[in-house]
Amino acid sequence: MKALVTGAAGFVGSTLSARLLADGHDVVGIDSLTDYYDINIKRANLSTIAHPKFSFHQVDINTADLGLLLHDVDYIFHQAGQPGVRKSWGEEFIEYTSANIGATQRLLEAARSCKKLKRFVYASSSSIYGDAENYPTTEEATPKPMSPYGVSKLAAEHLCTLYAKNFGVPTVSLRYFTVYGPRQRTDMAFTRFVKAAATNGSIHIYGSGEQVRDFTYVDDIVQANISAAEIDSLPGSVFNVAGGTSISVNGVLALLENLHGAPLNVAYVDKVAGDVTRTGGDTSKIEKAFSWRAKTTLERGLERQLDWAYGNFKRD
Ligand code: UGA
Repeated sequence: MKALVTGAAGFVGSTLSARLLADGHDVVGIDSLTDYYDINIKRANLSTIAHPKFSFHQVDINTADLGLLLHDVDYIFHQAGQPGVRKSWGEEFIEYTSANIGATQRLLEAARSCKKLKRFVYASSSSIYGDAENYPTTEEATPKPMSPYGVSKLAAEHLCTLYAKNFGVPTVSLRYFTVYGPRQRTDMAFTRFVKAAATNGSIHIYGSGEQVRDFTYVDDIVQANISAAEIDSLPGSVFNVAGGTSISVNGVLALLENLHGAPLNVAYVDKVAGDVTRTGGDTSKIEKAFSWRAKTTLERGLERQLDWAYGNFKRD
């Protein structure tokens, strides 16, 4: 089969592409290589997944000739977007509307004429829930995003459902809960923490550190994408993809300190607007539909990310 992966140079996109290639599929990767974080990291991700069955196009979904790119693909894995909960305020918001909402709508329009398409998997986010009324949160909970980023991810998810209902585009949206693992983005907590451990740098904790997250290891996210592509579901469906942890940021630091075997340099700074107090996803729906379960424990996953950091970040 032939898959199109958007955001192929990013954290999830490159890990997913590697898995698809290892499974013997043809992969067309697209990415506009924005400079949200060091572009050399994205180039390094791409070189890691170089393969005879992988072709890469540096294009922006908002301007690319999508008809040409999509005409013979069986699966679309739409991982591209403007990430980052805490930076989505103010003048930056236009980046979020353009890369998350505009680009998704353009891809969905192109997918309408894609005759071979079997599934369009959209990378949604737990940030659509905001501070939820109940935990673990089910897909039926009323979405109340707390950040402009969450609003943009929710709008794109609604577009996926609309295009499924009106035009039969076979979409499925996966609500990722804080994905971590090797190659994680440099603005995210775990990469900052393991980098500080590896280089004897400092860690800044936003707020009290008592905020709780349901962290999900990247290989489990990749498996959810593959299952969502291979197994039928009602077009327009949405599923939580959550690792099953319910741990505070302080709890993560204690675990990391233990794995690292030395104290970390931690400073507490102000809470950042848009940061939710807690996330926690009920995964009954995805377990039933795709027999998906998170396989990687937080301890194991964090250990892998720490090992990756030891190999990738050097002390100055
Ligand atoms: C993450 C991603 O950045 C989003 O793209 C994604 O959509 C979202 O998960 C999601 O699951 O919906 P977040 O949970 O904020 O957002 O992930 P991290 O950046 O790993 O932060 C986790 C927690 O650590 C947050 O409470 C954050 O405030 C805290 N943190 C982060 C720090 O205390 N210090 C840091 O340097 C970074």
